[in-house]
Amino acid sequence: PHAFYRELRADAPVLQDARLGSFLVSTYRGVSSVYKDARFSTRAYTGTLEAIHGRTVLSMDGLLHAKNRALLTPHFRGQGLDRVHALIHRTAAKILEQIVPRRAQRLADEMRDSADGSRVDLVAGFAHRYPIAVIADMLGLPESDHELFAGWYGKIMAFVSNLSGDEEVHRQGLQARADLAGYMAPLIAYRREHPGDDLISMLVQSQVDDYRMTDDEVRAYISLLLTAGGETTDKAFGSLCKNLLVGGEWARVRDNRDLVDAAIAETLRFSPPSQITTRMCEEDVELEGVQVPAGSTMLLIAASANRDESRFERSEEFVIGRPDLDPARAFSGAAGHLSFGTGRHFCLGAMLAKTEMEVGLNLLLDSFPGMRLADGAEPVDVGLRTRGPRDLYVNLAA
Ligand code: HEM
Repeated sequence: PHAFYRELRADAPVLQDARLGSFLVSTYRGVSSVYKDARFSTRAYTGTLEAIHGRTVLSMDGLLHAKNRALLTPHFRGQGLDRVHALIHRTAAKILEQIVPRRAQRLADEMRDSADGSRVDLVAGFAHRYPIAVIADMLGLPESDHELFAGWYGKIMAFVSNLSGDEEVHRQGLQARADLAGYMAPLIAYRREHPGDDLISMLVQSQVDDYRMTDDEVRAYISLLLTAGGETTDKAFGSLCKNLLVGGEWARVRDNRDLVDAAIAETLRFSPPSQITTRMCEEDVELEGVQVPAGSTMLLIAASANRDESRFERSEEFVIGRPDLDPARAFSGAAGHLSFGTGRHFCLGAMLAKTEMEVGLNLLLDSFPGMRLADGAEPVDVGLRTRGPRDLYVNLAA
């Protein structure tokens, strides 16, 4: 889509799409200003997302949103995150164990290409399973329930991405919502009485003034974590490995780990997992010289804004350590890339996602210093709203 986005930035930074009726916003300045302007709300998310999760921070605005953010933020930043660092490492190592052929023959056999015994698909084998396993571990779910949890995740994701309205996908999504709710209810109730050091306990104990989350809000939030933190981090990790391997940068980053943060930040700029987000315009607004009437849906194209040539030099190139992207700020919502949004809905899980990518990449660099793309592998990115490599066949043993 990048040739189209380039044309949009040059000719029509704010454009009403004749077919959709929505406004496409494609420049860095345009996307940032909509995110920061309270006249554009997240009411646009109430439909599908509320149907599958219930009410969550993402579709709230105003005071209720601020209170919920205040409850949640401590668990995903600073000390809250330090606590889960070791857990993330354990989770990553566990999954890696399963994809290393000699240690888990059965799984490796499933993933290995018959023509070349050392080919492993890093997307299906690692990236796809890792973030959801981290969330399950953070919630303190027993290992034996991980498969169940991953199954609900798959059905909920399919529901959210069901643009063609397939009835069976819709039905299965709602069933997964009910099953997840049924599974979570006793755990949430138990943790109210017997708090531990897992995320469920943190959520039920959090309090701002006299405000606490109800059981249903906790359940909705856990459900949101699956879509907000699962597929996005999955795609981000796939893109990170792909960008390094395709660009021939694996060895350089392996030998200079100071580059890991910059490689993650640049991957998020260059390959945003969530390419387009949505807002509802609540009153008549003039945006970049274009009149936007109240009630309009806005499509904010991070994939384009992140390649805006007026913000980033050589914007269409993947450049680790580029001077115009400070990795220290790229995960804080302060004038970096726009892949986590910015403003009051800035991604709550940005630091968690960054930690997962950092731990996962370092582990792969340590375990497979000679990793390279498998012979003949030509990974391609797929998806328009969320995007990442469809598969990534690598040779681990090289
Ligand atoms: C919000 C992207 C990982 C939880 C957002 C938004 C974006 C985003 C673009 C803003 C949506 C909007 O304003 O319309 C990403 C990407 C990730 C990632 C690219 C991975 C690389 C995570 C993780 C979590 C998470 C791991 C788990 C904690 C959230 C939540 C919100 C959010 C709860 C809603 C915040 C609010 O509305 O106030 N994310 N996300 N995200 N993200 Fe992430």
